Amino acid sequence: MLHFPEGFRWGAATAAHQIEGNNVSSDWWVREHATGTSIVEPSGDAADSYHRYREDMTLLRDAGLDTYRFSIEWARIEPEDGFVSRAEIAHYRRMVETCLELGITPMVTLMHFTVPRWFYDEGMWRSPKAADRFARFTELALPILGNDVDYVCTINEPNIAAMIAGGEDPANLVAYGLPAPDLQVADTLLESHRRSREILAGVGGIKSGWTVATQDFQPEPGCEDVAHEYGHQRDDWYLEAARGDDWVGVQAYTRTIIGPDGPRQVPEGVETTLTGWEFYPLALEHGVRAAWEKTEGVPVFVTENGMATQDDARRVDYTEGALAGLHAAIEDGVDVRGYLHWSLLDNYEWASGFRPTFGLVEFDKETFERRPKPSLGWLGSVAQANGLTV
Ligand code: NOJ
Repeated sequence: MLHFPEGFRWGAATAAHQIEGNNVSSDWWVREHATGTSIVEPSGDAADSYHRYREDMTLLRDAGLDTYRFSIEWARIEPEDGFVSRAEIAHYRRMVETCLELGITPMVTLMHFTVPRWFYDEGMWRSPKAADRFARFTELALPILGNDVDYVCTINEPNIAAMIAGGEDPANLVAYGLPAPDLQVADTLLESHRRSREILAGVGGIKSGWTVATQDFQPEPGCEDVAHEYGHQRDDWYLEAARGDDWVGVQAYTRTIIGPDGPRQVPEGVETTLTGWEFYPLALEHGVRAAWEKTEGVPVFVTENGMATQDDARRVDYTEGALAGLHAAIEDGVDVRGYLHWSLLDNYEWASGFRPTFGLVEFDKETFERRPKPSLGWLGSVAQANGLTV
């Protein structure tokens, strides 16, 4: 049995737009319905988790998990510039309270890719007002967090957000990690993160950080410099920027092989997932080691890890491999505080629509009835043992 440290947190993650449904005031809703969009289908009702969050949290808790990462939707809270929906603030406060009532630790993400459409029209992260906008939104989130949310993620995957910042073709999200980041947007995201952190620091007990997509850029022989440059712009800069934060989130799925001209396609014959990524569980170990090194010792939280597959047994294999690697990093002294699986539910995988199924739970598209997969029970038993049987 591979034992995890005492107090290690186990759970699952989601994001508002991907599960709630009818996020009509968001930029993504606009993009999904734009003529000629490359997004394969609109998000529609998604998993209707806006109404079914209690059921979803209960499934997580009953399986034996203790932490739920979810995001609050800025586009619902500020659907118009200058209009604040008190009802939506109350809604998200109820979500926090439901977690607490069920004995679940909530981890709240403030911005998980989607923004209000008015902010999108204003230029989004290219707007000179962006950091002010996000600071104002952070203030609005304070009553949701109250004094009882320990972990807040300000911005999800700023490194990916900087690649899709100007509302470019969202198919770029499918070719995960390939477009060049907008460096001005990267600076604005960092400024937004820091201002948000200052506001959150005024509330006792909140530990805030951001979560980085660690893309495990691996050089072909002779391509070390290219891979280093690639990795610095796309991952490491964001990890280095987290030095001094309370924690940093690692989100790892696969590796990217770098040849002389940049990323290689996944070679023929290699096992791939429903997102087309290589089945590569060691990405997690590499991601947490990179985070620990680049942040110079900021505690790491695995805030996403998983695979899109219809073969749930393969999901368990993947997760087992990822956890074994995570354990090896912990044994070597990396301070990892918890593991959150992506995702609790099958959900809307952005430009790829609903086809890539990442969930520990599936749902009926007509009735929204939830059906836990065996992997949910399996992860729950790992959590209960606080260890992995190998
Ligand atoms: C990263 C993102 O945070 C999440 O929204 C996405 O669904 C997963 N990884 C899988 O691509």
